[in-house]
Amino acid sequence: MEMNQPAPPNALDQNRHGQIGRPADRVDGRLKVTGAAPYAYEVKEGDPPAYGFIVEASTAKGTIALIDSQAAERAPGVLMVMTYRNAPKQAGRSLDIEDRFARPRPYLNDPVVQYYGEPVAFVVAETFEQARAAAQLVRVTYAAEQGEYELQASLEKAEKPRGDKSDKADSSVGDFEPAFAAAAVKIDARYTTPFHIHAQMEPHASLAWWEGDRVIIHCSTQMLESAQKRVANTLLIPEDRVRVVSRYIGGGFGGKLPVFADVILGALASRELGRPVKTALTRQQMFHVTTHRTQTVQRLRLGASRDGVLAAIGHEAWSHTSRTDDYYEPTAQSTRYMYAGPNRMTRHRSVHLDLPDADSCRAPGEAVGMLALECAMDELAHALQMDPIALRLRNEPERDPEKDIPFSTRQLVACLKEGARRFGWNERNPQPGQVRDGRWLVGMGMCAAGRANQLKPAKCKVKLTGDGRLEARMSMTDIGTGSYTVFSQIAAEMLGLPIESVDMKLGDSDFPETAGSGGSFGAASAGSALYDACEKLRTRLAQSAGIDPLEAQFGDGKISGGGKSASLARLAGDDGVEADGEIKPGEMEEKFSQQAYGAIFAEVGVDIDSGEIRLRRMLGVFAAGRILNEKTARSQAIGAMIWGVGSALHEEAVVDPRHGFFVNHDIAEYHVPVHADIPAIDAFFLPEVDDKGNPLKIKGVGELGISGAGAAVANAVFNATGVRIRDYPLTLDKVLAGLP
Ligand code: MOS
Repeated sequence: MEMNQPAPPNALDQNRHGQIGRPADRVDGRLKVTGAAPYAYEVKEGDPPAYGFIVEASTAKGTIALIDSQAAERAPGVLMVMTYRNAPKQAGRSLDIEDRFARPRPYLNDPVVQYYGEPVAFVVAETFEQARAAAQLVRVTYAAEQGEYELQASLEKAEKPRGDKSDKADSSVGDFEPAFAAAAVKIDARYTTPFHIHAQMEPHASLAWWEGDRVIIHCSTQMLESAQKRVANTLLIPEDRVRVVSRYIGGGFGGKLPVFADVILGALASRELGRPVKTALTRQQMFHVTTHRTQTVQRLRLGASRDGVLAAIGHEAWSHTSRTDDYYEPTAQSTRYMYAGPNRMTRHRSVHLDLPDADSCRAPGEAVGMLALECAMDELAHALQMDPIALRLRNEPERDPEKDIPFSTRQLVACLKEGARRFGWNERNPQPGQVRDGRWLVGMGMCAAGRANQLKPAKCKVKLTGDGRLEARMSMTDIGTGSYTVFSQIAAEMLGLPIESVDMKLGDSDFPETAGSGGSFGAASAGSALYDACEKLRTRLAQSAGIDPLEAQFGDGKISGGGKSASLARLAGDDGVEADGEIKPGEMEEKFSQQAYGAIFAEVGVDIDSGEIRLRRMLGVFAAGRILNEKTARSQAIGAMIWGVGSALHEEAVVDPRHGFFVNHDIAEYHVPVHADIPAIDAFFLPEVDDKGNPLKIKGVGELGISGAGAAVANAVFNATGVRIRDYPLTLDKVLAGLP
């Protein structure tokens, strides 16, 4: 089906069996906690593997002058040392393919070094330890050049983003500049956000082997179709000669949207050696061999009347990308839909630096853009002496303020009001620096949250088997979000089966195509294909039972209606009954502006002497369409809010401005929130059904909770101390500078 019309009433609305929304335990929970769910590095299939280890460049820009691999080749257990001199032919990099994760990504194809940590050799040995030891013996000297690694120092070189998305880089409605100049109350502020690293628990890893001229790759990736295409495009082989499998994934966060050197080099080496090759990136290697989120510089200008009506909204954003890539962080995209205002302008500019590719990381765009927008709204509220919630209520748009189309559903106002009530917002002292609890200055802050809702094409195949079980197959992944579980609930509801009777098969590129997990579109896209397949299966079963499909009821392993009844197992027979489902995006995405919304509240304490900031409590109230599983959705929301705390207080990768590498390239030095940082946190979802986006009537949940969340913390710090920090993360040195 294609989303050209709102989704009609369906079996999921009826929810006769109560599966939809139920806080079902994860169907893969037991496998995971008992260690029985094999992650890519743990897959045991085929012949015993050899182990690959990547040697990284120790310069960020230049050319390999000399590479001596003889000592490494003679080291114990070594089977091969691959360098640019003997690497098999691969396609060159190209921006021509629209799916950037499917573009060829060659390694070791020339002596040019374009970023620190770029693979310059690949050592394969009998054991991991032997490969790692031999890797230390590869001698490389470089003709190095000085590169550029600093966004802020290179802003004058900013250019309009390259590539096919560049036409979306700017937007303009009304006439921003004069409207801003004429506004009675103005905010003109500059914000910065640092490099972010995805910091997934599971490192990138792969196991590759060849069966004839077909390569099988188990790896940890969010999008199997893109991975399959990238491998085929890079190795110059047809797509059907590549099978990618990714059954369990220990976190994606955007850092596993593409596949990287472990996959490409592992596949190449396995072909040369005629045996499986297993490769994992070390934690340190992940910082340079994969992607990261760019730093941003942002200028926010808000112009309002004295009673808080926005007349002008301007958001300019600068981000970096590598020399060879065209991705840019869509930093201002939420500013295009969050608030009303007749005169608006957004602009994105890119600076090309000698760093690894920057790419998507946990709510690309909103996560960092709203750190600025939602902070600026707080600054405006303070300047107006207005409550920050009241300011947002005053500027609630009736239609999408840039596209001039209706919203599908938008419950920002309800989220703000319900959040304020649950959090006790009325107890907040609007005067900063007034509330003390012992040695702590205490403050409350809030922000609004919004995240684009998307639908991607997806297909699914379902089969009812003779033992009355339902098997479903999709190339979709579960990156730890609960895909296996929510899809099992959908199938169970549609066929009236217990969830235990559903076998959800995901994570194999041989299964029907989906877009995988990314952009919070996974459940809606793959789930809708599954729904469509189940709907077709229901019709088929009804017809074979001689029951009018409109009257058919499913439950207790039976189909019944019109006085007739038949067992599903009997209808399935020995061969089973199959059905194919498909979803395609359609006109609904042009006719309706689709986002999920929320309101996030934080209370912090700031140590009066040291400036140490501690989160005391945090609450998010969200409206994200129908919720498929209360428990997994809440976990998603809380996890995302915790990343928001990280963006406010902890996360910051630091580049050495002389040598262009991430100095703090491990989790000891790159700080993410830990248990002690998150004392009390909760999330609620308001009832909502959105029939414009997909037949499940859901919206994306995963990235909503991070969108802006850090601004709630920053605004709470201001309320606690009166110190306004615009450079994230808010570390104690920055607070201390402003404390009395
Ligand atoms: Mo997400 S950053 O699109 O995996």
